[in-house]
Amino acid sequence: MKRVLFLLSAALLSPAMASAADAPTTPTFTKDIAPIFKEKCEACHRPDSMAPMSLVTYAETRPWVRSIKARVTDRQMPPWQIDRSVGIQKFKNDRSLTDEQIALITRWADAGAPQGDPKDMPAPKQWPDDQGWSFAPLFGQKEPDMIIKSYEFTMPAVSQDVWDKRVTPSGITEPRWVRAIEIRPETLKGRKIVHHAIAYLEQTEPAGSALGGTGLPAPFMEWAVGKQGEMMRPDTGKLLLPGAKFHWDIHYSQAGEEITNKVEMGIYFYPKGQEPKFRTSLSLVPAALGTMDIRPNTVSLAEGFTVLREAARIESFQPHMHLRGKAMMVEAILPTGGKQVISLVSDFNFNWMTTYVYADDVAPLLPKGTILKVTAWHDNTVAKKSNPDPNQWVGWGDRTVDEMAHAWINIVFMKEEDFKAEQEKRRATVSQTAPAPQQ
Ligand code: HEC
Repeated sequence: MKRVLFLLSAALLSPAMASAADAPTTPTFTKDIAPIFKEKCEACHRPDSMAPMSLVTYAETRPWVRSIKARVTDRQMPPWQIDRSVGIQKFKNDRSLTDEQIALITRWADAGAPQGDPKDMPAPKQWPDDQGWSFAPLFGQKEPDMIIKSYEFTMPAVSQDVWDKRVTPSGITEPRWVRAIEIRPETLKGRKIVHHAIAYLEQTEPAGSALGGTGLPAPFMEWAVGKQGEMMRPDTGKLLLPGAKFHWDIHYSQAGEEITNKVEMGIYFYPKGQEPKFRTSLSLVPAALGTMDIRPNTVSLAEGFTVLREAARIESFQPHMHLRGKAMMVEAILPTGGKQVISLVSDFNFNWMTTYVYADDVAPLLPKGTILKVTAWHDNTVAKKSNPDPNQWVGWGDRTVDEMAHAWINIVFMKEEDFKAEQEKRRATVSQTAPAPQQ
């Protein structure tokens, strides 16, 4: 008993001692840290990529240790804004660090960031040839079926940020089902100035779609560093209709040298005549649309309610707000009255336009009549670092100094019998922690 008490008080009084007892070896860069950085940082932090420094070698990493510890412990790096305390936690594109990885990096930094034995260094990671199309070989092709390019743009060496929003027609003359998409800056240099790139799709939808069309171009594909592309779930596709056009939204930032760039998007179709069973449609699900009233020096809240007129599977979620966006939550209010949080982004950052793609076994299955509730918070105070002026009144609008508040949600609508079948499949595989499929 005495011994237990002693250990307990030692643990309470001296966390350093306790952790030293738990883990007597000091983590080293070559053995413990480099493997994490390869997996979670190099996608952006390598030579000629978009982040300000490479984290590939020890020499490159060492000067940044303090900053790394700070950014990693407050979860600003890698960029991933999903709140970990509520909602679905399993994603196809999760790039965040686990709690254990953060603890390891912190211990390493606190121990003086030792290099360790160079022999422990993992083999260098081979990054895919940036000029090749990575999905093409999977489909037995040399190139995507269709390549859409943005207009050439030259970013001066020194400039404020610029958004290129020009429009490219698709040239599509008959409906085609898309099974995969890749998008990237055309050259390696282009990566230094492209902060993000989104291609929005504008096409005329047949009347009577399940959410009702908004008429606004909806995101089709986005590029952010570290992202290769998007493969649809099995038997699921996006539909391109004749007359489809792509609106670009390319955010360029200066790189200290003049660089000319285009963004290119490669599209892979299902073979003609092969129709996937399910269609993914990207829907704008508003917390507010058209009007907002954000007073100076306040935190404001907006709520929107949208009824699913058909049963649905939720594929992914991307919050859309501007410089004062603080947080966004998507909840499902079920026909039975039950309520579940699907996702909460509690630390929204305008610079990171991330689409959170749910893993196959947890993508929410929602019955017809479910209400999607979207709540958006805007912080028009000095507390919000990206806020250009908290003394301004702010309304709804397209400029980044105006505000918006909607979620982009990829939804697959389903017939009742397909929905039942999907629920059955889910019951067979689902784990206890996943949100329960609804009756
Ligand atoms: C998706 C791309 C991406 C990933 C993944 C990523 N970073 Fe970053 N990181 C950036 C960009 C871009 C910046 C510069 C803009 C900024 O500071 O937010 C940055 C900035 C930083 C900074 C601040 C540098 C300074 O000026 O002090 C640190 C530290 C950092 N990253 C560490 C990491 C670590 C460690 C990882 C992996 C565990 C990581 N990042 C993963 C893109 C990324």
